Amino acid sequence: MSAHEPQRGWVDVAFPPHTDAAVASLLSRAASADACVYAHSCRVAQLAVEVGRFFGLPRSSLNELGVLGMLHDVGKVGVDRAVLSKPGPLTPTEFRQVRQHPIVGAELIVGIPALAHLSDPVRHHHEQFDGRGYPDGLGGDELDLRAYILGVCDAYDAMTSWRPYRPARPRAQALAELLMRAGTQFHPDVVAVLISILQIEQSLAA
Ligand SMILES: [Fe+2]
Repeated sequence: MSAHEPQRGWVDVAFPPHTDAAVASLLSRAASADACVYAHSCRVAQLAVEVGRFFGLPRSSLNELGVLGMLHDVGKVGVDRAVLSKPGPLTPTEFRQVRQHPIVGAELIVGIPALAHLSDPVRHHHEQFDGRGYPDGLGGDELDLRAYILGVCDAYDAMTSWRPYRPARPRAQALAELLMRAGTQFHPDVVAVLISILQIEQSLAA
C-alpha cells in the first residue's frame, strides 16, 4: 500500500453458513500463489462495501459485495507463482495465463453451493464498461453493478499498492487514471462514487 493511503482495517464480512472451511482453503491457496492477494482482497472488500452503501444497496447486498471483494481474485491459484511475482513485463503466454484467473475463480466459487450465485461478478471483474475487457467482452447493461464496483475498487487498490513490477502510485495519480477511463474501462457512476468516498476519507483525515 502507498504511504499516501490510509490504513484499511478488516471488513466485517459474513460468509454463508458452513462455507468457512471452503472459503479459508480458497483464500489460503490464493495467498500461497500471490503474497499480495489477501491484503488486496481485504481492502477491495472494504472499499466495495463502502461504494455499495453509497448506491443505497440493502445490507444483504453489501455483505455479498464484501464476500465478492474477498473472493474476486481466488482464481490466481491457477496462475504460476513465478508469473505472479515476476518483477518485469509478462510474455504473451504469461499474460494469457493471468487473464484466466476470473474464469478459474468463478469455477471454484460455483463449486461451493452456498456461494455459487456469486460466480458471475467474479468472472466479470475484469470486464469493461465499453465491452473491451475479459473474459467475455461484456459491457454496459450486460453486467451487474457488483462486477463494475469490484472492477473499480480492484483497479484503484492495485494502482495504489506495491507490485513486484512497479512501486505504489500516489492516490492523486490513481484518481486521475480512474477519471480518464470513466465511461470506457470503468462504469462512470462507480468512479464518481469512489472518488467522493476517498475525498470524504481524506477530509476526515486532514
Ligand atoms: Fe483480478
